[in-house]
Amino acid sequence: KRLILVGPPGSGKGTQSPIIKDEYCLCHLATGDMLRAAVAAKTPLGIKAKEAMSKASKGELVSDDLVVGIIDEAMKKPSCQKGFILDGFPRTVVQAEKLDEMLQKQGAKIDKVLNFAIDDAILEERITGRWIHPSSGRSYHMKFAPPKVPGVDDVTGEPLIQRKDDTAEVLKSRLEAFHRQTEPVIDYYAKKGAVAQLHAEKPPKEVTAEVQKVLS
Ligand code: AP5
Ligand code: ZN
Repeated sequence: KRLILVGPPGSGKGTQSPIIKDEYCLCHLATGDMLRAAVAAKTPLGIKAKEAMSKASKGELVSDDLVVGIIDEAMKKPSCQKGFILDGFPRTVVQAEKLDEMLQKQGAKIDKVLNFAIDDAILEERITGRWIHPSSGRSYHMKFAPPKVPGVDDVTGEPLIQRKDDTAEVLKSRLEAFHRQTEPVIDYYAKKGAVAQLHAEKPPKEVTAEVQKVLS
């Protein structure tokens, strides 16, 4: 399966991705996670991304060329040949068009776009309570999904951190970018009849059940 997960910050894309990935043996490509990892590792891409990511830490999108390049490279991995989950990409109509071109070359197409529909008002609590394990991308929530030991990853025992952009103030500009630049992407795929709506305000297990229903 080739899936796109689209939704505002904190809507649950990163929470549902590992579950879907394991169930359907897909690779999980999250542009936000990849950008943060590249910056931390100081790779050539990371050095380029760093400047863009300082915009990201203010809640703006990084350039289309940069993320399209990352995805183009990542989709060539053998583990992505059977199918993939795109989490946080495409986020602009330009990115969606570029993705179509890439897939056309392989004779492939997107099977489903899962729209994590949710009211903006719920998102501040989700974002400000999030703690992540940076190297795996696992995320926790102080209230909704606490780790077994506070501040510590369940699997590795390593410390958890908060993302720089996870403040109430930066969330406002991330949401603005979502409504202005990413909602048109949902329309783009809706015209192709590829969008399935999820009730992303429900508890995580219920959202998982909705995803399974859509994909079955
Ligand atoms: P990115 O990392 O993609 O951030 P985002 O889209 O803002 O999404 P989040 O990761 O914040 O939300 P999520 O939906 O994954 O939520 P999660 O499941 O963790 O991008 C970061 C930045 O990178 C962007 O701002 C941009 O600058 C740049 N970037 C990335 N991709 C780009 C692109 N394609 N083009 C240009 N720039 C790009 O859940 C959040 C919290 O809620 C967690 O604590 C979780 O435990 C909890 N939770 C999850 N589900 C539930 C539930 N059902 N009920 C209760 N709590 C829940
Ligand atoms: Zn995420």
